[in-house]
Amino acid sequence: MDMCLAFRLAILLTPMISLATSSDDVGFIYNGFRSANLSLDGIAQFTSNGLLKLTNATHQQQGHAFYPHLVNFMNSTKGSVSSFSTNFVFAITSEYPTISGHGIAFVISPTMGLPGALPSQYLGLFNDTDNGNRRNHVVAVELDTIQSREFGDINNNHVGIDINGLRSIASTPAGYYEDGSRQLRNLSMISGKRIQVWVEYHGLEKRMDVTLAPFKVSKPKSPLLSTHLDISSIVNDEMYVGFSSSTGSIFSSHYVLGWSFKMNGEAQELTLSQLPKLPRLGPKKRSRLLTVGLPLILVSMILVAVSGVVCFLRRKMKFAEVVEDWELEYGPRRFKFKDLYIATKGFQDKELLGAGGFGRVYRGVLPTSKLEVAVKRVSHESRQGMKEFVAEIVSMGGLHHRNLVQVLGYCRRKGELLLVYDYMPNGSLDNYLYDQPKVTLNWVQRFRIIKGVASGLFYLHEEWEQVVIHRDVKASNVLLDDELNGRLGDFGLARLYDHGTEPQTTHVVGSLGYMAPEHTRTGKATPCTDVFAFGAFLLEVACGRRPISQSPTEDFILVDWVFSYWCKGDIVEAKDPNLGSDYVTEEVELVLKLGLICSHSEPEARPSMRHVVQILEGDIPFPEISSLGLCSSGLTFTHREGFHDFGMSYTSSTDKRFSHSSAAASQFSGSR
Ligand SMILES: Nc1ncnc2c1ncn2[C@@H]1O[C@H](COP(=O)(O)OP(=O)(O)OP(=O)(O)O)[C@@H](O)[C@H]1O
Ligand SMILES: *[C@@H]1O[C@H](CO)[C@@H](O)[C@H](O)[C@H]1NC(C)=O
Ligand SMILES: *[C@@H]1O[C@H](CO)[C@@H](O)[C@H](O)[C@H]1NC(C)=O
Ligand SMILES: *[C@@H]1O[C@H](CO)[C@@H](O)[C@H](O)[C@H]1NC(C)=O
Ligand SMILES: *[C@@H]1O[C@H](CO)[C@@H](O)[C@H](O)[C@H]1NC(C)=O
Ligand SMILES: *[C@@H]1O[C@H](CO)[C@@H](O)[C@H](O)[C@H]1NC(C)=O
Ligand SMILES: [Mg+2]
Repeated sequence: MDMCLAFRLAILLTPMISLATSSDDVGFIYNGFRSANLSLDGIAQFTSNGLLKLTNATHQQQGHAFYPHLVNFMNSTKGSVSSFSTNFVFAITSEYPTISGHGIAFVISPTMGLPGALPSQYLGLFNDTDNGNRRNHVVAVELDTIQSREFGDINNNHVGIDINGLRSIASTPAGYYEDGSRQLRNLSMISGKRIQVWVEYHGLEKRMDVTLAPFKVSKPKSPLLSTHLDISSIVNDEMYVGFSSSTGSIFSSHYVLGWSFKMNGEAQELTLSQLPKLPRLGPKKRSRLLTVGLPLILVSMILVAVSGVVCFLRRKMKFAEVVEDWELEYGPRRFKFKDLYIATKGFQDKELLGAGGFGRVYRGVLPTSKLEVAVKRVSHESRQGMKEFVAEIVSMGGLHHRNLVQVLGYCRRKGELLLVYDYMPNGSLDNYLYDQPKVTLNWVQRFRIIKGVASGLFYLHEEWEQVVIHRDVKASNVLLDDELNGRLGDFGLARLYDHGTEPQTTHVVGSLGYMAPEHTRTGKATPCTDVFAFGAFLLEVACGRRPISQSPTEDFILVDWVFSYWCKGDIVEAKDPNLGSDYVTEEVELVLKLGLICSHSEPEARPSMRHVVQILEGDIPFPEISSLGLCSSGLTFTHREGFHDFGMSYTSSTDKRFSHSSAAASQFSGSR
């Protein structure tokens, strides 16, 4: 019981498994030589990973490794040599690919180690005096890699069977017969590749077989070398078994990776997967790794680093912004360009809402708040006036009115300003008015929009803490929210350009047909110029036509056109035909007439937005205006001379600004 346990422990603790099927029949297996107890001499050694390294890269040396116990070769019953078999894996590495040091031999010897033997061509087996001596009692299977003509070697890559001397009794070039083929496949033993060897002695038939195969090719059925041989007169009853190897003038190393041996039976098969790994191949390979691999690795590392830096810089450039000290106080009004970029999916064309005089407008969804916004990209080269303008935009963030498009904030980049507004799902009003729109608005909707825009503009002019002049009132700047409320957008934006890029040219900004004549003359925007534009807007909405349209035949001026209807005494005829019959005559008339008086060329003659709101709400009656006589004298509106002569008076002129309304006004007092 105790012995059994100890035996099992031995099996578990060492990779070397010694087995004895009967008391005499020695058998062992080494799947690698880690902690193996072989007897080494010469320069043989075990490597740390369990290789048996018979020689290391040295000149004129030999190495031996022997199983440390005697092996009984005599069949006690019959008095003849028993059968035995052995299987091992070896590899020879050399400093040159085509020549190497000498080979390796499997030896059966009366002594452990081979005292007096020489290296080089003697393979560590014999010396020049005892070579061939019958008293040697040595049987060896040589795997010779050098052709020694003195011993009659057939070539420099052969397998031979040696009895007491190096002149082989049988030899053949190294190779193997693939199963099912009589074709010999060569095997180079100095390739550094692992090669399996089987040596079998058949005691009854007195035959020795030697078989080679590349690593991981199973044992071929036909041996490479098979020769009739009676070794009973050569071997003693008890012998040692092991390996011998030698180097000559070329650096080479001989390795044995695994070994099994069995007396009276078939040697156990090696477990190839458990065998230790060979060291990475010789200096040649290593230098290749250094000369080709290292630079390659370095270059690719540099490439990766450079492309990383380029990526980083490009990303940084892509999202670069301009932030100056004075902006810091605007913190929450300042948007990150990256956020806007993400919101608008990289300013994709798909998200483009439209383009106007200042730049393109994109729809977007802010990444964190998921708020829908409209982002306007205004290209702006000059930094002049930027500070004031940004201050104004930021302060306009404080404007809250149901008829204004809320300004959410801004972002600044080199040569570019981005403004962020609330998104208006129904787009701008101009889309519903001219050029056979897909959807038109009925009168109730239009009148509500007009009143809304009027109250929004009134808020800008008078109801907020400071006077804000819109400067660009027009149908395309009136946006419709989800309830079709009219909301004024883009207020104050024209200012950015008013501050002027080139001081020498007074840059007047506004849209054709909406610019008050005095605005064009002086370049100065006032609440009165906004009222003028609002007048043009009223006519636009009621008539469904642009304030000015140019055709090859003639220029159409909406104010003149409406005025001509007024003169004919039927101003309502000027209404948009798309309205059909579903409208309130009084309201249409009111809007058209209000549009006309707002378009008065004399700023003093225009009502204020406060009045406009009051008139539209019906809180005060429409001012009495006399048009008789004017019409007969063929006067026209706006830009034409003589328009000043047209006058009007307001029945309730409570507003201070109305008291301005010119001397001319009295001329035309009285009702129609
Ligand atoms: N806040 C918004 N929500 C939804 N759509 C908008 C918004 N702002 C602008 N748009 C759309 O973008 C288009 C272009 O606007 P933009 O203000 O650039 O040009 P514009 O109003 O025609 O001219 P201007 O440059 O004189 O204002 C508008 O016609 C409108 O359809
Ligand atoms: C070879 O082995 C011997 C003995 O183990 C050692 O002294 C020698 O330095 C080794 N040479 C090389 C090149 O590894
Ligand atoms: C190894 O073998 C030697 C020689 O036979 C022997 O003296 C020694 O005890 C053995 N050691 C082990 C650990 O087996
Ligand atoms: C050795 O003897 C045994 C019986 O002890 C026998 O079975 C076997 O075949 C013999 N082997 C040889 C090679 O003579
Ligand atoms: C040759 O080897 C034998 C042992 O095998 C030894 O006795 C003899 O001295 C050696 N001869 C020389 C010249 O080394
Ligand atoms: C094998 O080796 C022999 C002799 O060295 C040579 O003649 C033959 O061409 C080789 N065959 C192959 C397939 O390399
Ligand atoms: Mg606009």
